[in-house]
Amino acid sequence: MVTLIVGAQWGDEGKGKIVDLLSQEADIVARYQGGANAGHTLVIDGKKYVLHLIPSGILHPNVQCVIGNGVVIDPVALMDEIKMLEDYGISIDGRLFISHRAHLIMPYHKLLDAAREKAASAKDDSTNRKNAIGTTGRGIGPAYIDKASRTGVRIVDLLDRKRFSDKLRTNIGEVNKLLAKIYDYEQLDAEKIADEYCQFDTQIDPYITDTTLFLHDAIQSGKRVLLEGAQGAMLDVDHGTYPFVTSSNPTSGGAATGLGLPPTAIQRVMGVVKAYSTRVGNGPFPTELHDETGENLRKIGHEFGATTGRPRRCGWLDAFSLRYSVIVNGITEIALTKMDVLDSFDEIKICTGYNLDGKAQKSLPADADTLERVEPVYETVKGWKTSLEGIRKYEDLPEAAKAYIARIEQLSGARVSIVSTSPDRADTIIRG
Ligand code: GDP
Ligand code: IMO
Ligand code: MG
Repeated sequence: MVTLIVGAQWGDEGKGKIVDLLSQEADIVARYQGGANAGHTLVIDGKKYVLHLIPSGILHPNVQCVIGNGVVIDPVALMDEIKMLEDYGISIDGRLFISHRAHLIMPYHKLLDAAREKAASAKDDSTNRKNAIGTTGRGIGPAYIDKASRTGVRIVDLLDRKRFSDKLRTNIGEVNKLLAKIYDYEQLDAEKIADEYCQFDTQIDPYITDTTLFLHDAIQSGKRVLLEGAQGAMLDVDHGTYPFVTSSNPTSGGAATGLGLPPTAIQRVMGVVKAYSTRVGNGPFPTELHDETGENLRKIGHEFGATTGRPRRCGWLDAFSLRYSVIVNGITEIALTKMDVLDSFDEIKICTGYNLDGKAQKSLPADADTLERVEPVYETVKGWKTSLEGIRKYEDLPEAAKAYIARIEQLSGARVSIVSTSPDRADTIIRG
């Protein structure tokens, strides 16, 4: 059985919590795209863990974790994360498998990410329109650029020291030209970087394997596999709010290419949806609230980035873009998170459509400037005004909360099968 878990909005929907929860009944959890730009938070018995690269099944001793070919791996971040887990007494020995086809994030990717963002924001004018994407600065864009332009450095390249150094020298020669001509930055030393990366090779060597074959064998033998998406559909480079997106395909199709799995292997697609909307970084966000309600959502929901600590932009649930996300991903069921954050609101709004120049839109505008101009159409539902804490059965939810869920199901076209009411693994309602 292969189940895919995908972020249905702009990331930070609570994928980490849901993947950790479902890992209780899984054998393998695999990441298929993105890199250390992700920040997945798990809370177990009050103890908090934040994972960036390692799949969110790692806290379950019997679960094996795969980092697939579609992920871009920063060895510095990876080693830090392995150390963090070891410090918590979590052994990853024999449980972590890294694709030899995965690309590496090099120090120059992070440098170029920062340089591009700085140059872009310098062009900002007095209007609200931002030029910078507001990336996480983890080198994601430049690493995927190298992958697409076929100059990327992969894990498998580490096996041959000479070939690795040659490739690095060529790449760094190009980067140095860019740094000198465009960004006026210091030059990089290829030999120093090559030495540093060859040390990582020794450290990560035990984990490297042909993960495609590993997954195929596992599926053949009936193992239960979870595929963990990072980011979210609206940040997808093809389907999101381009150019304010990440550089990979978080949507469900990305799992096939990012792991070497045929699409037919995936039987179930669960979308993780926050009960309201958030976005971190720049770009269109039709339901964003710049008022006290937005501030309340941020405060109550502790909406600050798990990777960069930036305050997240907050707004009402955008069920119009959610419907699009459901279609693009093939979502059949929803894990609805952070319902508790809405406990104190008298009224809750849901965006059911967009108007542009007074005209109702049939589909999500593809152009970011147009999307900036749309006006959300809202429907208001009653709040439940009581704490959802400790509720374990769907039937025990207040009627108003059930009505809100039912409306989300109608508008999105997918059934809500999980409701989450706190960051903790235990506070979750599984609907029969
Ligand atoms: P991810 O990137 O999708 O894994 O999500 P993040 O970990 O970046 O952000 C989700 C945040 O919400 C984390 O701090 C979680 O601990 C927290 N969280 C998850 N589910 C719930 C919930 O149902 N209620 C509340 N209050 N917090 C939650
Ligand atoms: P998880 O997996 C929310 C956003 C950044 C920026 C854009 C591009 O925790 O949900 P990048 O560094 O990828 O080039 O940045 O994407 N972004 C995320 N937003 N959650 C994430 O991951 C994100 N990863 C990237 O803020 O707007
Ligand atoms: Mg996150």
